[in-house]
Amino acid sequence: MSPVTLDEPRVQSSTTRKDLLTVTDHRTGKSYELPLTHGTIRAMDLRQIKVSADDFGVMSYDPAFMNTASCTSRITYIDGDRGILRYRGYPIEQLAETSNYLETAFLLLNGELPTKPQYEQWAWNITHHTMVHENVKDLMMGFRYDAHPMGMLVSTLGALSTFYPEAKDVHDPLVREKQIQRLIAKIPTLAAFAYRHSKGMPYVYPDNDLSFCGNFLNMMFKATELRYQVNPVLERAFEVLFILHADHEQNCSTSAMRGVGSSGVDPYTAAAAAIGALYGPLHGGANEQVLRMLAQIGSKDKVPAFVKEVKESGGEVKLMGFGHRVYKNYDPRAKVIKQMADRVFEVTGRNPLLDIALELERIALSDDYFVKRKLYPNVDFYSGLIYQAMAFPVDMFPVLFAIGRMSGWLAQWQEMIEDKEQKIARPRQVYLGSEARDFVPMIKR
Ligand code: ACO
Repeated sequence: MSPVTLDEPRVQSSTTRKDLLTVTDHRTGKSYELPLTHGTIRAMDLRQIKVSADDFGVMSYDPAFMNTASCTSRITYIDGDRGILRYRGYPIEQLAETSNYLETAFLLLNGELPTKPQYEQWAWNITHHTMVHENVKDLMMGFRYDAHPMGMLVSTLGALSTFYPEAKDVHDPLVREKQIQRLIAKIPTLAAFAYRHSKGMPYVYPDNDLSFCGNFLNMMFKATELRYQVNPVLERAFEVLFILHADHEQNCSTSAMRGVGSSGVDPYTAAAAAIGALYGPLHGGANEQVLRMLAQIGSKDKVPAFVKEVKESGGEVKLMGFGHRVYKNYDPRAKVIKQMADRVFEVTGRNPLLDIALELERIALSDDYFVKRKLYPNVDFYSGLIYQAMAFPVDMFPVLFAIGRMSGWLAQWQEMIEDKEQKIARPRQVYLGSEARDFVPMIKR
């Protein structure tokens, strides 16, 4: 699918004055008309604004990309003020209700829902790429017994590139397709191996008779029984959780995937960078932090004191799982997860931390500090409670996020490769350091 280009329609004779932004440079008194497309000006159009011929021209300064679109995309739509999330136009609530993860992954990657034969072929391809080379297993065995599974995942994903050197040919669509299948198929295997490693348990090989999620649960939890019985409620819960996490437009890890991928490197290496970004506590590591925070609060009656501490800390202490760069309303994914929690708890037993979480949400949503800043629960606030109830250790939470997000990273990476407007990502800087000066020998400093 060809990407939208901001040049359609560009300022042609048909451009009306409504499509233009007039900028006056008071240093020179000159005015410039900048084309506005999709409510956006091109930062490069600012370059013509100069005080002299040898002036570099005006740049925009936007630390943390608060108001800069780095690409056009047709994959995921978010309206943060209204709490809307859609993949390829389909509301997240409908996908969570009726789709499964592999179907949603196909949708993200291809733009349309698969027909039955397309789905069967896709599911077969993924199922038959779940094995990893035995050397990858050996590599994982080299980690310390208490290695964080995200650290193991970052390294092993990067290492996969050495097993598939053909993956370097990122401009060949067939080569890309094969790597996409491998990455989506293998990440649950790597994740489960990382978990089994920390437990000192033998790794369980993939089982092709099981669904994507059923196979993952089997690789995680199979012990000595001849056949591990996958609980259908937990299997479905994972389908939903992976769907909810599959994509979220230009977030930190996706930007890492696109940014690193823009150098032309293979997708295993780019995905390793994306996982690295996801690992951080302000991103995919937040669900881990939510659980630690709830455990630290300890009981419902201590919630008001904790909220007070957050408010008085001047931004030092955060209510983890709250707030979002884009959502200034309830995160629609958090809503779905909250509803699903009850079904999971019927199987696993209620997570005692849920009461603390509900009380935190109740107090925060009625407190002026959070209301004024439009801080609502995000996807991470309730997901950890479900994972913990399913017996996943806290360290595994961001890993679970990464499994679901892999399809989104790859869809975004592919869109970037096919986008004729994209080049190697290379931001500018505003240099505020020393002027040129002469080196001083150490003895004279
Ligand atoms: N608890 C308390 N105060 C908060 C929180 C929070 N969770 N989040 C933001 N604020 C406050 C900030 O201190 C700031 O206050 P100020 O105006 O008095 O300075 C104000 O709200 C605006 O916050 P910013 O940090 O400017 O918002 P930003 O868009 O940069 O950050 C972020 C978004 C990183 C998600 C932030 O809300 C946060 O740290 N949340 C906690 C971590 C978290 O849950 N991350 C998961 C995000 S979802 C995901 O990645 C899947």
